[in-house]
Amino acid sequence: MKVVLVSSEVAPFSKTGGLGDVCGALAAALARRGHTVVTVSPRYGPVDAMAVGAEDTGVTVDLPGAGTRHRVRYLRVVSEDGVHHLLIEHPMFDRDGIYGDANGTFGDNHLRFSLLGRAAIEAAHLVPVRGEPLGEDVVFHAHDWQGALVPLLLEAAYRPMNQFVTTPSVLTVHNLRHQGHFAGRMFADLDLPPRWFAPWALEYYSDLNLLKGGLHHKDQITTVSPTYAAEIRTQIGGFGLDGVLRSRQDVLTGILNGIDAQIWNPATDPLLPANYDANDLTGKKTCKAALQTELGLSVDAATPLIGSVGRLDPQKGTGLLIESIPWLVEKQDAQVVVLGDAPAEFRRYEERLRQFEQRYPRHVRAWMGFSEAQAHQIEAGADLYAMPSRFEPCGLNQMYSMRYGTPPVVRAVGGLADSVQPALGDCSAGTGWVFHLYDGHHLRDALYQALSCWRDRPEAFRAIQGRGMAVDWSWDAVVPAYEAIYERARAARGEAGA
Ligand code: ADP
Ligand code: GLC
Repeated sequence: MKVVLVSSEVAPFSKTGGLGDVCGALAAALARRGHTVVTVSPRYGPVDAMAVGAEDTGVTVDLPGAGTRHRVRYLRVVSEDGVHHLLIEHPMFDRDGIYGDANGTFGDNHLRFSLLGRAAIEAAHLVPVRGEPLGEDVVFHAHDWQGALVPLLLEAAYRPMNQFVTTPSVLTVHNLRHQGHFAGRMFADLDLPPRWFAPWALEYYSDLNLLKGGLHHKDQITTVSPTYAAEIRTQIGGFGLDGVLRSRQDVLTGILNGIDAQIWNPATDPLLPANYDANDLTGKKTCKAALQTELGLSVDAATPLIGSVGRLDPQKGTGLLIESIPWLVEKQDAQVVVLGDAPAEFRRYEERLRQFEQRYPRHVRAWMGFSEAQAHQIEAGADLYAMPSRFEPCGLNQMYSMRYGTPPVVRAVGGLADSVQPALGDCSAGTGWVFHLYDGHHLRDALYQALSCWRDRPEAFRAIQGRGMAVDWSWDAVVPAYEAIYERARAARGEAGA
């Protein structure tokens, strides 16, 4: 098959969270299975085209938007796996941030990602891949609200011109909280016929909602775990789009993400001070001591160290974890390290973490910022990993932590419920600890169970680590599920076009 993957983030070129990881790794895994894979994402300001080995394809296209035309240029990087990564260049992407900068979210994101969608569709006609353009026998796989215009544009702007009539599209929802919500008047900038600003398409109570427009298209919808696929059809999990998703439930499938098992492999990870595997965890002890030293905490193998990596955001349950710190330090003599960065509106988390750092200098460290190396060192050096999310479409860090022999303590939502098997009271089964109610007492109870097992039942703890390390989280195991979705979309579209 020929797959065109459209996303605002594709690692290693751009990443603010799991979206970039997933798109980069899924593309590579599809290519390893023999598919022709093209990704289309913007080249943002901080990405040096030369440094990432990009060549100019020489192809440009003029795309409509906001009453004028915008010239977009396609750069290309061919990865070792054979994926053709197209990076599109336009002054609107040539800024320091992906979605915003220190002054806040960019005001023209609707237009920026409309250009991305149009550029991705045009790429199939214009950009040679191994000698010739892909043509219309492709599957467009768009991601989140930034890609959501692809299915809608196909329907609204191309099929009426007799183009892409039998070309299917798949839309993957990574996080329903982010919908691409704008004032209704901004619809005019998209350069679409006015009838598409309607409740069955892009209108949401007089506003413009790009994700909603994409969800109303005719093909397949996926999300990143089976439990999340059920949650988003409920009023609590649906963020106002549960009705739309219920109406489309016959084409909605939850597929649990994989992880890049080469980058996240404790046996070979070059970012660790020592490597280890499930048969011999000696290197993990070295990683813990190095992490404690680096963090300025007391270096003591007998003091449990709890790690957390991720956006500081109410989604991640950051508040629950922070409120549990005094209990962890004072009652459990545990150490806590948090790596994260907070968007401007959640800076309060950073301030509270700083206060605890000052109060407990031998026990608490907050690493504020974004660092791949530190993320790997925490996954390896911690004894337990905390992820008490309020909601979690999939979550990658709990899978990284299991692979690194660092059992997670998670809330039973979304992909956390689907990936972590609960340890029983006597630690006789499972791969981590799971609690249900979003409440600090419940988190602390789960942490207490985990810490007790770590202290008092080392053999059972070792077995929990072993079970987590043995799970195959690789994308190669996930790809057949996407192939089935692409086939389903093709079959349905073939019938529609016939
Ligand atoms: P989300 O996409 O909701 O942020 P995920 O768990 O799916 O959550 O993915 C987050 C990804 O981003 C992981 O690869 C994680 O290691 C990485 N990440 C998040 N914050 C940081 C940070 N401050 N430093 C390094 N990596 C980070
Ligand atoms: C989103 C979700 C996260 C998921 C990631 C990749 O950012 O918040 O749970 O793992 O997308 O699918």
